[in-house]
Amino acid sequence: MLAVVNTPGGAAPVAISEVPEPEPKANEALVAVHAFSLNRGEMRLFQVRHAGWRPGQDIAGVVVRQAADGSGPAAGTRVVCLTDWEGWAERAAVPSHRMAPLPDDVSFAQAASLPVAGLTALRTLRHGAPLLGKRVLVTGAAGGVGHMAVQIAARSGAHVTAVVGSAERGRHVRGAEAIVEGIDKAEGRFGLILEAAGGASLAAAIARIETKGTIVIFGNSSGEPTSINFRDFAEHPNARVQSFSYFTSEAEERFAPDLALLASLVGEGSLKLALVESSWRDMARIGPQLRDRHIAGKAVFRVEQRENGG
Ligand SMILES: NC(=O)c1ccc[n+]([C@@H]2O[C@H](COP(=O)([O-])OP(=O)(O)OC[C@H]3O[C@@H](n4cnc5c(N)ncnc54)[C@H](OP(=O)(O)O)[C@@H]3O)[C@@H](O)[C@H]2O)c1
Repeated sequence: MLAVVNTPGGAAPVAISEVPEPEPKANEALVAVHAFSLNRGEMRLFQVRHAGWRPGQDIAGVVVRQAADGSGPAAGTRVVCLTDWEGWAERAAVPSHRMAPLPDDVSFAQAASLPVAGLTALRTLRHGAPLLGKRVLVTGAAGGVGHMAVQIAARSGAHVTAVVGSAERGRHVRGAEAIVEGIDKAEGRFGLILEAAGGASLAAAIARIETKGTIVIFGNSSGEPTSINFRDFAEHPNARVQSFSYFTSEAEERFAPDLALLASLVGEGSLKLALVESSWRDMARIGPQLRDRHIAGKAVFRVEQRENGG
């Protein structure tokens, strides 16, 4: 079968090559992959992982063979999945607790955008629960995580301010009461701040957190460090800075229900996804656009199905 393989130093960071078929363990289903999405963090991995490494976490497709231990969805079920790696391929082995069935009206492209970005949006927001009536600030709101976090927070009753880099970047942001170009323009204080830009943005977040509020730090897109002093919190007593990793923030058995929740939000229309959809053969062209902040929302790739079952 064909799969995306790491090619550091090559003409492009990754290439599509022939690889052996997956051999699922007893608790793993075999999934025919119809779509996958690319995350900013994965582009960094292309540079640091060895040649031949096979990336790919966010996938959607159809179960070809149910897990041998009888767990998880049956053959023929349309699913969204989170894999550790090796997901960007015609077929993938996926642990049955890392997948959820899809509502009929959720497309493979929509589903493939959900795992890493959607879980990050959902789970960072849980650090601010309850959200009803809370003022929430989301940085990187035009990005994959950000545009989902704004909508999920709003649906949970929060008053959301979205930070974007430009008015053009803000065009696809839905659910925010205010969209500001740069965190410096965000007015008032917030009970919860989702911060992934780092550098000056994190320092500005501290200046805007409420007493006892929470800043969730989940990325450093700018690559810039931030200097923090205890005195920065003088007017924000007992505010908390919470680091976050989507993968380990909650128990393993929470993956399937959280993926199902995200898919249901898309199905009911309360989570509208901004997608740039292309063939997986176009990854080399789209990757730099994501890196350079020209993608609104998520970059999603179709895996064209071949007649031999691929
Ligand atoms: N900790 C975790 O578990 C976890 C999970 C997923 C993602 N992440 C991290 O969270 C961040 C957001 O992920 P994503 O998938 O939403 O990425 P994305 O789609 O590329 O969005 C990143 C957003 O950050 C904003 N940004 C502000 N300053 C930036 C800068 N100097 N360089 C690049 N972007 C900048 C951009 O908004 P404008 O262009 O509008 O300014 C962009 O929309 C990334 O840093 C990613 O590595 C962490």
